[in-house]
This record gives sequence, C-alpha cells and structure tokens, in this order.
Amino acid sequence: MRLGVCYYPEHWPEHMWSVDAQRMVEAGLTRVRIGEFAWSRIEPDPGRLEWDWLDQAVDVLHSAGLGIILGTPTATPPKWLVDAMPDMVAMDKHGHKRGFGSRRHYCFSHSGYRVEALRITTALAERYGSHPAIVAWQTDNEYGCHDSVLSFSDAARAGFLCWLEERYGTIAALNAAWGNVFWSMEYRSFEEVDLPNLTVTEANPAHWLAFRRFSSDQVVSFNRGQAEILRAHSPGRDVVHNFMGFFTEFDHHAVARDLDVVGWDSYPLGFLDSFPFSEADKLAYARQGHPDIAAFHHDLYRGCKPNGRWWVLEQQPGPVNWARNNPAPLPGMVRLWTLEAMAHGAELVSYFRWRQFPKAQEQHHAGLLRPDSSPAPGFGEMQQTALEIDTLGSVGAPPRSVALVFAYDAEWVTQIQPQGDRLSALWAAFACYTALRRMGLDVDIVPPDAALDGYALCVIPCLPIVPDALVASLDAFAGQVVIGPRSGSRSLDFAIPEELPPGPLQAVLPLRVTEVESLRPGLAHSGLTWSIARWLEHVEGTASAEFVASDGTVASWKHDRFRYLAAWPEPELAAAVLGAAARDAGLKIQNLPEGLRLRRAGERCFAFNYASNSLSLSCDLTGKFVLGGATLAPGGVSVWEID
Ligand code: GAL
Repeated sequence: MRLGVCYYPEHWPEHMWSVDAQRMVEAGLTRVRIGEFAWSRIEPDPGRLEWDWLDQAVDVLHSAGLGIILGTPTATPPKWLVDAMPDMVAMDKHGHKRGFGSRRHYCFSHSGYRVEALRITTALAERYGSHPAIVAWQTDNEYGCHDSVLSFSDAARAGFLCWLEERYGTIAALNAAWGNVFWSMEYRSFEEVDLPNLTVTEANPAHWLAFRRFSSDQVVSFNRGQAEILRAHSPGRDVVHNFMGFFTEFDHHAVARDLDVVGWDSYPLGFLDSFPFSEADKLAYARQGHPDIAAFHHDLYRGCKPNGRWWVLEQQPGPVNWARNNPAPLPGMVRLWTLEAMAHGAELVSYFRWRQFPKAQEQHHAGLLRPDSSPAPGFGEMQQTALEIDTLGSVGAPPRSVALVFAYDAEWVTQIQPQGDRLSALWAAFACYTALRRMGLDVDIVPPDAALDGYALCVIPCLPIVPDALVASLDAFAGQVVIGPRSGSRSLDFAIPEELPPGPLQAVLPLRVTEVESLRPGLAHSGLTWSIARWLEHVEGTASAEFVASDGTVASWKHDRFRYLAAWPEPELAAAVLGAAARDAGLKIQNLPEGLRLRRAGERCFAFNYASNSLSLSCDLTGKFVLGGATLAPGGVSVWEID
C-alpha cells in the first residue's frame, strides 16, 4: 500500500512547491493528488488556457519522485462559465437556483455544461495524458456532495421525459406501471409529466423512484464521458473517482463499472457526528469514530469492483470543519485508520490535505501541516505509519467468509416510502455489519449480482427489489442465508408483488408477508436477549418460527439453509439471528470487547482498538506478533501471523 496526499499548488507561491515536494518524499509519501478544483487557474478566461503554472507544478512533483493523481476540475465551474450559461446551475427541490460561490453548482443534465466538462477534460488529458508523472486520473470530485445529485431544473425535466419515454415506450404503459389511476394522476403524454417535487403531499413513490434512477443514470453518464476521454488520451493510467461516506444518492455500483479503481474519502469523526449514531456512541467514539465507519466503507467500496481494487483518496488527518462538532482525533488514530485501510486491502491512502489553507471555507480543516508549515499532529503519525507499512510488506488476499448484499435502489425505496422513523436499508446494512464484526467476522459488502461461491454466509439485510439473478444464485448457494425485512417487497416500479412479499424470494422461502407495521419507541416485543422494535412483519407459511418473543410474536423464521428476519435488525436481535446463522455456517465467532475489531488478510490478522481504554487480546486468538502485542492501548493496532 502506498501513501499520498492531496495538494493544492495553486494555493501556495511557486517557491514553496519544491520544498513541499521534497518534504513529502522524505516523510514517506509517494503519491500526490492535485488539480481537482483548479479550473479558474487553468482557464482564467473562456478559451485562454494557462498551462505554465500547472506544467511547472507537475514537473516539480515529478522530479521529487512523486506519482501524480490529476483531477478533472469539473466540480468547480468558474464564474465566467456560469455567467455565460446561467441555466447550467442545479435547482433544489424548492425550485431555487444553486448559486455560484462554493462548488458543485452544476446540473448533471445540462447539455451545455456537459460539453464544457468534456472540453476541459479533453484539454487536460491531451496536455498531460502521456506525461510520465501521471499515474491516475480522478474524475470530478465527490459526485453528489452538498446534495447535488437531484436537480429540479428545466434541463433535468427535459432529460427525465426522454428517459421515461425510453423506459416505458408509451404513456399508457407508464400510467399502468405507476398506478396513476390512483388520485386521477393519469397523463396523456410524456410532455405532461413534471418532476416529483412541489406536489401538495407526497408524489407517487413510483414517480420518485423513476426520478432517482434517472438522476443516478445522469451521474453515470457524466462520469463515463470523462472516463472515456481520459482512457483515450492517457492509456495505462487508472481512472478513479472519490465516493463519500454513507452516501447513496446514485448507484455507485453502476459508476464503478466505468472506473479502474474505486476511491472514497474517509472522515470517521465527521461521519460519526453527522449521521444517526446514538448520543452514547457519539461521545464514546468522539475522537476515534465508530469502529465500523471506516471499515464498512472499505468493504462496501472494495465490493464495487470485481477485481476489488480500491483507494482512500482523502483521509482525515486531524479535525475537520464541516460536522456540527469537530474534535481532534485521539493520538494514534491517523495511524490506526491508515493501517485499517491496509488490512482491508487498500492500494493507497492519501491524506486530505498537505497544508491547512488559512483562507476561504476550510480554514478550520487540519492538514498534515499547519498553515505556517510546521507539522500538525497527523504528520508524525503518517511518518511512523509509512515506516510500518514498509515493514509489514504487502497484505494477503481478503478471506471469503460473509457476503452482505447491498443495493442502492434498496435505500431509495426505504427513503421514498419509509413507513416509519429510522427505517433505512443503508442503516439496516450497517447494523448487520456491526453485529457481524462484533463477532470478529470478515465481511464483503457486495452488489446483488455478485458471485456468492466460496462464502459461508450470505446476509441480505433489506432488499426491497430483488433481481431474478439473485434468486438464482441463492438457490445455487451452498452456505447459510439470512434475509431481512422488506426484502422482495416491491417490483421494479414500486408495486407490492402479486404473490405478496417477499415476492421472488418465495422460490427459496415458503412464506408470505401478510401485514407490516412500524412500532413507535416503547412498543416492543421482548425476547430472551433481544426485542422486536421499530418494524414487524406478520408472516404465513410453512417455515418454522425460530426466534420468538415471550408474547409469541415471531422475530425470525427458518427454512432449510434460509432464515427470514421479520423484524428490524436492532443490534441485539441482529446479533442473535446472525450469530445462529454464522454458527450453522461453521464460522468461528468471538464475543469481542466493545471497541475492538479484527480483520484477516492472507496469513495475518489485524486488531484495532477503538475504545478509550486499553484492551487485551486472548491468547487463543493471537499468534506470533509482527506489530504490537497482546495489549492494545487506545488507538492501538496489533498484527499477528495466523497459526
Ligand atoms: C471532501 C472534499 C474535499 C474537502 C474535504 C474536507 O468532501 O472532497 O475537497 O472539502 O471534504 O473534509
């Protein structure tokens, strides 16, 4: 695994560049990511391309021995472009224009902007495509950041109507598929269809789902356009994009098909503070991040490419500026996060950013260096980690143990029609992931069309739309299977299947869901160590009740190798049901202390201590240590050879 850093030569006077480059190399960095926001410097006026400074920066970094990941600057279209094409900006759901003055203001559907984005991409690719310094290209930056996938602009509406016509053929087919007879919502032509915002109460969920699919497809084709140009002009270089955390607005599996490597931006502390973790977890892990945040995304994004290639393109090096609370990491966490990425098979961890910029929006965001170039706490940790990575050498292949199936349209369905508070396919996946990892298991998060052979256990936390191919692969799969609530509950067009949920999964599970209910806090059915809360499905059929609450309510059903979880995967219930399935699958399960996580890679096992107290590893777990030992300080990492 290599280490790199995000660098913005345009922020600093030229005389600093070579000193910076030298210092990067001496500290153990071999990659540098540049350029992704530099459009106004590359093209200060329409058509006037200013390459001198970038040529110089590329040469300086290259001469120091750094490989460059060059970004296309399309996340930050300059003012002159917005002024020339005012309708290129996205519109929010209230119909307000998203103005110039920050970033990501463009609308994915604006054809004029697409032409401009391809033009600047081509110019960069022609200029640097065969430069020996360039090892990879990053397309744009964080598609969708700042709520920028869905745009309710005229351009989006025009694109959506074409997309609908292509998908449904006739308006009668669309009306029938969506059930538009309900509330007299029928259309006479595609031209009559509006976007699903600004309705009085909720729009038809089928309308929303179609718009979400369309908007996702726009991201896919926007990215593909750039990827094709970069490949044509820069053969042999990887094309990568930096995905985000807990972000589901577009289908990442689909975008990943056009990338060589999947990248993501890892900000464990910002994510902990910004997403719905309990207050207790937010406090307990304020300086570490919840122990599953980084790993969940490592495993999710590794699963986006069948070849498993993935990078961390931005790694939090200190406090960030964008969460509600932005604490500094516990000493050791920058090292822990880096080694954890290594354990999950990352080829690169690149820190965001080299030096804190004393101006503009991210003044409070740490870098490896302070604004005065003195080292920030993350710098020393990075240096130490670079040496340790060298000592550890390459890590072996990840084991095939548990496959956890996640699809982006699952999250769209549960967002569009939640039917209760805090019911989301993404968070159901996270809850199952956490339960599995607390048992010390290694998890691959895979799309529904992934090959399942070799896994002992397949977990499908919540998958409303089940593709036929998945039913076929489950049928052929020899391992244990756990299928969670709402799976198979909707057709492609958001209808309840004729045979009732779990729809096509009835081919492997002899049961039907006859009623679902969401449960307010306090309305729970208690079992031995767990309870049914939030969501319950009433089931008929010939499967056997396995986990039954004391009042007789069934939480989970079993038939052959298949289990159906008819309640929300609350932590204790998920642990009970997944634990039973893991045991039946022959997996060795641990009861890890709070904050400890394990990860096997080849012949080695890594342990990470996210707790604020020291933890000890039991000796039947460990082997010959190659890093650390049986006791892990807070933020500690140990690695041993598996016997
Ligand atoms: C990312 C973004 C970076 C920077 C960073 C700050 O979302 O890609 O450009 O803004 O956040 O944490």
